[in-house]
Amino acid sequence: MKEKIKSLVKNSLEQISDCNSLKELELIKIEILSKNGSFANLMKDLKNIPNEQKPFYGKIINEAKSEVLNVFSTKSSILNEQEQNAKEKKEALDVTLSKKYNIGAFNPINIVKQDISNIFIGMGFSLADGPEIELKKYNFDLLNIPEDHPARDFTDTFYITENLLLRTQTSGVQVRVLEKEKPPIKIICPGKVYRPDDDATHSPMFHQIEGLYIDENVTLKDLKKTLEEFAKLFFDKHTTVRFRPSFFPFTEPSVEVDLSCSMCHGKGCNLCKNTGWLELLGAGVVNPVVLEKSGLDSKKYSGFAFGIGVERAAMIKYGIPDMRLMFDNDVRFIKQFKF
Ligand code: DAH
Repeated sequence: MKEKIKSLVKNSLEQISDCNSLKELELIKIEILSKNGSFANLMKDLKNIPNEQKPFYGKIINEAKSEVLNVFSTKSSILNEQEQNAKEKKEALDVTLSKKYNIGAFNPINIVKQDISNIFIGMGFSLADGPEIELKKYNFDLLNIPEDHPARDFTDTFYITENLLLRTQTSGVQVRVLEKEKPPIKIICPGKVYRPDDDATHSPMFHQIEGLYIDENVTLKDLKKTLEEFAKLFFDKHTTVRFRPSFFPFTEPSVEVDLSCSMCHGKGCNLCKNTGWLELLGAGVVNPVVLEKSGLDSKKYSGFAFGIGVERAAMIKYGIPDMRLMFDNDVRFIKQFKF
């Protein structure tokens, strides 16, 4: 009997000492100390020994049991503390975690739209707005665009109904403002426009910034001064602009505005195809017909207008070769550009 008790204590203490989790400890407790456990079985064995020895062994078994119980509770509190610590560590806020996430960035289209707008706002222009779903009247008719102009064709314009379309240019906002306001008028309108084109330099949706300045005695010279100032602020202070004759039905005269190449400064390089110039925008003196159609006295008032392609400006400024990169919105691409 003595041997049995000794080996049970030894076994129990070894099992408790090797145990690594509360769950496991609980199982050991059931095995050793429960009603049908090893100690209880040992007590049952007492019936096989002589009566006079029973109290003696009974006492020894109880003492052995309470020794095991003591070790068991010490082990239980150690494991409990360890598991608690591990849990807290796991649940604690990992301050290094944010490094693993890609933080978003502003798309270069938005950066450029904002930069250009800010420059003109700094020159006294205010923001105007117009609908993207536009009436044919504002997108074409009141801008003096003839009925048979190819831009009106359904292959060049997304029509919704015969008279309703997705605006193909922000120029319609000029007319909307002219109808509502009295000169001096000095507005820009940044916004989305839509055309059925899709390749490396064209997208079915792109952005323009329209500009309009109407007052007494506003001339082509004022337009040149304004755009030159803009180009120096937006690109760099060495940038110059040149006007090439062009044609738009809503301006007379009309010009195509080129920038001195931002890469080679006029010497000729790949970007400017060795011309030293980059085409940036269309502009001109507002056609008196447009003023009259909107009820303004064209003898008293004159003005200039311009339309900047935002994606084109971004491509020139940052040397982006394919417009579609800006629409993909891949954060690895867009986070290269900073406000
Ligand atoms: N609306 C023209 C286009 O989309 C750009 C433009 C040209 C706007 C001349 C103007 C302008 O205001 O005067 O191609």
